[in-house]
Amino acid sequence: VKTQLLVPAAGAGVRLGTPGPKALTQLAGKPLIVRTLERFASSGLLSGAVIVTPSEARDVFAEVLRGHFGDTPFVFTDGGAERQDSVANGLEKLEPDTDVVVVHDAARPFVPLESVEASVNAASEVGAATVAVPSVDTVLVSDDAGFLADTPDRRNLWVCQTPQTFQVDVLRRAYAAARKDGFLGTDDASLARRWGGKVKLVMGSRLNFKITTPADMALAECLIRSGGV
Ligand code: CTP
Ligand code: MG
Repeated sequence: VKTQLLVPAAGAGVRLGTPGPKALTQLAGKPLIVRTLERFASSGLLSGAVIVTPSEARDVFAEVLRGHFGDTPFVFTDGGAERQDSVANGLEKLEPDTDVVVVHDAARPFVPLESVEASVNAASEVGAATVAVPSVDTVLVSDDAGFLADTPDRRNLWVCQTPQTFQVDVLRRAYAAARKDGFLGTDDASLARRWGGKVKLVMGSRLNFKITTPADMALAECLIRSGGV
């Protein structure tokens, strides 16, 4: 099966609050997206990877990646207003003979390759897979007034991560259905499920957290400097 990596990196990083695109923010001396892509170095997935960037920053991304990955041929395309728009743009840049697409957030620099491989295997078999971890916290559902409405059984609660991996046909059809219905999700597996596809949950790692806030960035710096990742 021909597999391609698609990296949405077009977000502004409003919650992080640093100037410039979040994916270019320095994390312990290297841009965040460089640390994320380095995880894939031995996977064979960097060559031909589709990187979705803010349109005004495409040249800077290209230059930064050339500086760290030399002649590795990346394919760049422009992002959209929402993550879903960015992934949709990226999907159009996949090579025509690609069977499986691995969608991984630029903002998750500590993804274990075992999770990537497990997601590719699961998606090849059932059509779609998402990496996730069992929730260690009890999760509360509130009503609109801020009162407790429900406490779902933790045994069935998982925290979503990436990669989310798909047979390309499945993700294309799921995206077409979402577009037709005007549905906007925060991840891709929800689109596949909504379309009627089976999505296998694959075990991730607590360290595969998404750099979202300044606290996440501080934690990531500590992990790198202590050799914990
Ligand atoms: N992303 C994207 N295009 C968008 C929004 C997000 O490609 N329009 C990407 C981000 O670059 C990131 C991933 O999707 O790698 C997960 O998004 P998130 O962590 O929410 O990043 P941002 O949207 O940049 O952050 P914020 O929501 O705080 O602005
Ligand atoms: Mg966002």
